[in-house]
Amino acid sequence: METLNIHGVSGDSRILIGESLANLSAYLPSKPAVIITDATVRKLYGHLFPPLAVIEIGSGEEIKTIDTVCRIYTALMEQGLDRTGFVVGIGGGIVCDIAGFVASTYMRGIDFGFAATTLLAQVDASVGGKNGVNFGGFKNMVGVFNQPRFVICDPHLLSSLPRRELCCGFAEIIKHALISNADMFAFIEHNSGRALALARDVIERLVHESVALKAGIVSRDEKEAGERRKLNFGHTFGHAIEAVSGIPHGEAVSAGMVIAARLSAARGMLPDADLQRICRLLAAMDLPRHVPVTVDALVDALQKDKKRARDRIHVILLDAIGRAVVQTFDMRELVKAVTEVYI
Ligand SMILES: NC(=O)c1ccc[n+]([C@@H]2O[C@H](COP(=O)([O-])OP(=O)(O)OC[C@H]3O[C@@H](n4cnc5c(N)ncnc54)[C@H](O)[C@@H]3O)[C@@H](O)[C@H]2O)c1
Ligand SMILES: [Zn+2]
Repeated sequence: METLNIHGVSGDSRILIGESLANLSAYLPSKPAVIITDATVRKLYGHLFPPLAVIEIGSGEEIKTIDTVCRIYTALMEQGLDRTGFVVGIGGGIVCDIAGFVASTYMRGIDFGFAATTLLAQVDASVGGKNGVNFGGFKNMVGVFNQPRFVICDPHLLSSLPRRELCCGFAEIIKHALISNADMFAFIEHNSGRALALARDVIERLVHESVALKAGIVSRDEKEAGERRKLNFGHTFGHAIEAVSGIPHGEAVSAGMVIAARLSAARGMLPDADLQRICRLLAAMDLPRHVPVTVDALVDALQKDKKRARDRIHVILLDAIGRAVVQTFDMRELVKAVTEVYI
């Protein structure tokens, strides 16, 4: 097992890579605690949970709402949880995002921890202290920055993941390699088959490198004033694709990274050979390079992006594999540029 630490303004977080869900109780403080999970995770792994009250939520992006949050507040009150309580989210990114938000706001905030059960949650969603829910048709519109006390990343849990979910996790791993680590990118190229087969050494290295990268960036820029924006590589376009098509987050990010890479190549920043390598690796990892979304629908969704400051928008481009650059576009300029590279 390896431990990585995040030093955030909102507190410190310990990421425990290779730790087992069965050891969760060792990390719980000696105060009343409640588990938040979803039905699938409870059915598969409930036997490994510590003996605590469990609040079960539904699954899917449509339940990541303030209504679900309110239902959990009620359940916590019924459990008699007070300011001394603790919340544990056991699940994928949706459970973690909701549980973190609930804990951060219940009684003005109580401590919480996660056991991340999807690859995407282990390498991305559970790490970094962003918690929140969707609102008014926009993703993650309402939320807080607040660090979990701990995150358990148990590799054994990944073997039950549907392949599509697994591939979504690899999209975020590839994103991490693309923005900051060319060696990691080459490692995935050479080990794509073993990664998809969940070879323990490959997975642990990729989870470790992803978390180390994200932990470093978050420790330096917790509230996304600068460097943390690089983690949004592929996401400006990915979120637009996700909103229009409803495909899973990781798949939308994959197609979004291709748009960002094409844009980088069209602006003479990224060599064409690197663009081809990126597309080849995404294909090898069973990830889409393109989804059937019209450019008009994409542009329309882009214009609704909440991360837009007036009509300026930050877009992350690459000037090499392993090197991201933050550029600011005005909306009209971006629409024109995307329309030119979109296929
Ligand atoms: N907070 C952040 O920084 C951040 C970063 C990236 C993504 N996210 C959010 O994460 C969410 C996506 O997370 P996700 O991809 O983990 O989706 P998810 O939480 O919906 O999980 C996917 C599905 O897998 C099931 N599942 C979970 N663990 C399983 C296991 N071990 N075996 C079998 N099935 C399992 C779940 O029940 C669910 O049906 C999005 O809402 C996204 O916005 C947040
Ligand atoms: Zn993402």
